[in-house]
Amino acid sequence: QCYYIGNVGRKMIIMDRTRRLRMNATLRDMVRENHVRVDELIYPVFVTEENDVIQEVPSMPGICQYSLDHVLEEIGRAVEVGIKGILLFGIPVHKDEVGSEAYDEKGVVCRAIRLIKDAYPELVIMADVCLCEYTSHGHCGLVKDGVILNDETLPLLAKASVAYAKAGADIIAPSDMMDKRVEAIRNALDEAGLVNIPICSYSAKFASGYYGPFRDAAHSAPEFGDRKTYQMDPANGKEALREVEEDILEGADMIIAKPALGYMDVMKEIALNFNIPIVAYNVSGEYAMVKAAAMNGWIDEKKIVMENMTGFKRAGAKMIITYHAIDVAKWLKEE
Ligand code: PBG
Ligand code: ZN
Repeated sequence: QCYYIGNVGRKMIIMDRTRRLRMNATLRDMVRENHVRVDELIYPVFVTEENDVIQEVPSMPGICQYSLDHVLEEIGRAVEVGIKGILLFGIPVHKDEVGSEAYDEKGVVCRAIRLIKDAYPELVIMADVCLCEYTSHGHCGLVKDGVILNDETLPLLAKASVAYAKAGADIIAPSDMMDKRVEAIRNALDEAGLVNIPICSYSAKFASGYYGPFRDAAHSAPEFGDRKTYQMDPANGKEALREVEEDILEGADMIIAKPALGYMDVMKEIALNFNIPIVAYNVSGEYAMVKAAAMNGWIDEKKIVMENMTGFKRAGAKMIITYHAIDVAKWLKEE
């Protein structure tokens, strides 16, 4: 069996011996197509408004909620191993129907951003924008008569975005999946003079069981129903391309695909169709599965995690949001 690999001049090249390039580590390094780099890792951080808290999330071993008086310790650990970006999530003490604390300039997220920016001005702070952590009903938008409202939610998302950017966030990352939110946020940022703040939109975000552990961590599970009327149907790949296209037209600078592991085909498809940086979100349930198996001694954690990271790169991701970020950064240093 021969593999035709192309024409050089008039000569046809045949390669039937692929093992030649695998014979030693140096050669394998030379021909390696994809690399995981510490510069491309983004580490998610949960900040709670309570005091003196370092609370491990039971379903996410190694990942904790940190209060404002402890969060810099964890950020320090990330910076120490070379991580350049974090994704910030807030857990407020008070929730209400309209998610007030999401866009409160004195709320937990704005305070965390100011604190972290002050201590680590070089660190890129990506702020997740959504209402679900802040609403009493746990949905990502305003609710009326059991319906999640779209257009009524947009000004609140825009308000939160402007508040976070003013507090010092470097990137705004809307995760709510309302239609037209990128446009609303872009306009609001521009009007506030924040024209250089990029939007990294969760464009292809599926209604997934893989967010379970996150919802424990962020106390953001919906009180009734589910998120299927705004997050995407896991069966739809082509629709993801439409979501991405719309977000780019509305002004997104980067786009997120999530979950990552079960949706690599979607990532690849996006990469083939659009010229924009893609961020893979290796979500909480994916982390929990790997951790659980590793803790049982069933898999080799480092090998499996690095293989997953490499898979995201191969599928076309530029950056990777992952709870494994600190471990990955350490492993990359060891090499
Ligand atoms: C908030 C949000 C979620 C995640 C990121 N932002 C949860 C959800 O949509 O229910 C999931 C992240 C993860 O599982 O790691 N909208
Ligand atoms: Zn949400």
